[in-house]
Amino acid sequence: MTQRKSVYSLSVSVVIRQFKIVNLRLSLFIKPPNMYSSKIAGIGHYVPKNVYTNNDLSRFMETSDEWIQERTGIQERRFADRYEETTTTMGIEAAKVALQRAGTTAQDIDFIIFATLSPDYYFPGCGVLLQREMKMKEVGALDIRNQCSGFVYALSVADQFIKTGMYKNILVVGSEKHSFAMDFETRSRNVSVIFGDGAGAAVLQRAEKEGQGILSTHLHSDGADAEILAMHYPGAHANKWLKDKPAFSDQELGGLFFNKEILESGAALPYMDGPAVFKKAVVKFPEVIKEALAANNYTAKDIDLLVPHQANLRISQYVQQLLELPDDKVFNNIQKYGNTTAASVPIALSEAWEAGKVKEGDLICLAAFGSGFTWASALIKW
Ligand code: COA
Repeated sequence: MTQRKSVYSLSVSVVIRQFKIVNLRLSLFIKPPNMYSSKIAGIGHYVPKNVYTNNDLSRFMETSDEWIQERTGIQERRFADRYEETTTTMGIEAAKVALQRAGTTAQDIDFIIFATLSPDYYFPGCGVLLQREMKMKEVGALDIRNQCSGFVYALSVADQFIKTGMYKNILVVGSEKHSFAMDFETRSRNVSVIFGDGAGAAVLQRAEKEGQGILSTHLHSDGADAEILAMHYPGAHANKWLKDKPAFSDQELGGLFFNKEILESGAALPYMDGPAVFKKAVVKFPEVIKEALAANNYTAKDIDLLVPHQANLRISQYVQQLLELPDDKVFNNIQKYGNTTAASVPIALSEAWEAGKVKEGDLICLAAFGSGFTWASALIKW
């Protein structure tokens, strides 16, 4: 019995060894499953017509063109039409441009990723609304809620799906309608002068050329300061923002997701501790850019264009200085649009592409930092 068992286990181990050898030989000829790389085949953007200058905002709150320009670099921003434009409709306009530039159509899209912090509805997400309005096939739609780094996160997710061969044409959208939820009174001036509306979109496809496309993406988060750049209501949290917690009897349920007291307290407005955000951003931006460069054996000198999330011109300038990049290698358009959160990177990339600053073979670095905190980068060989 013992002898028969040992003969059996010997033959099993021989089979396993032979299987490993065959497997090894095969793997030399067959590429691993992540055989594809993805590229941005088309990029587009849309911004609403309504321009609001800093002076326009000073009609609503105590602020000045001088203060806003000096602290943020912003000169004007766009606000969507109150009734006609939504986060989804702006995303669709950007998507149409991206699809056309990619030489493809909405019907060819096999996956949608929509990044926004200002969705049309609390749920469902904007991805399905876009799928419906663009009359797409019944493809998967994923909404991403990573605020300012949402687009780079979305790009990373799309990249993985293309790499594995699961999808061939992915539409990635970043769109925001901040103007609907902001408070234009002096109490919120540190927030409301910064943000603007708009959308950007990209179509991701398989890269045909070796070494072309998204080289790597790098995603990070640290939730320690989640509440310092946030909109706390509506939410399903512990209501620590309510001064007087109303006593509820065991006959009552609900009522704290959103109510009159919450509305009057201002706790349903976007909140930001600006200086704290600034301090973290100037550390994490350069860190995640250097991480992307190091992962691909490049240095900052190799960058043809850095497209940073447009948080604050001072942050971009600080990063530029630190990396010793000349002016023409960093793209900024915050002066015209303010911070458009998930839309900011694709709007900037699309404008840079239109201006001829993104050419085939260029090394493009995208980087973002925002609420969460979350931060991310993507290095692309265009
Ligand atoms: N107009 C005029 N005064 C304003 C103002 C405005 N729009 N907003 C704030 N102030 C005032 C404050 O009330 C404060 O006044 P006080 O000193 O009398 O109390 C003073 O300006 C300084 O406020 P502070 O918040 O310290 O200003 P700051 O120099 O840090 O600039 C931000 C504020 C928001 C521009 C800056 O902190 C910032 O850009 N942070 C990063 C924000 C960011 O990137 N957010 C998005 C993340 S992706």
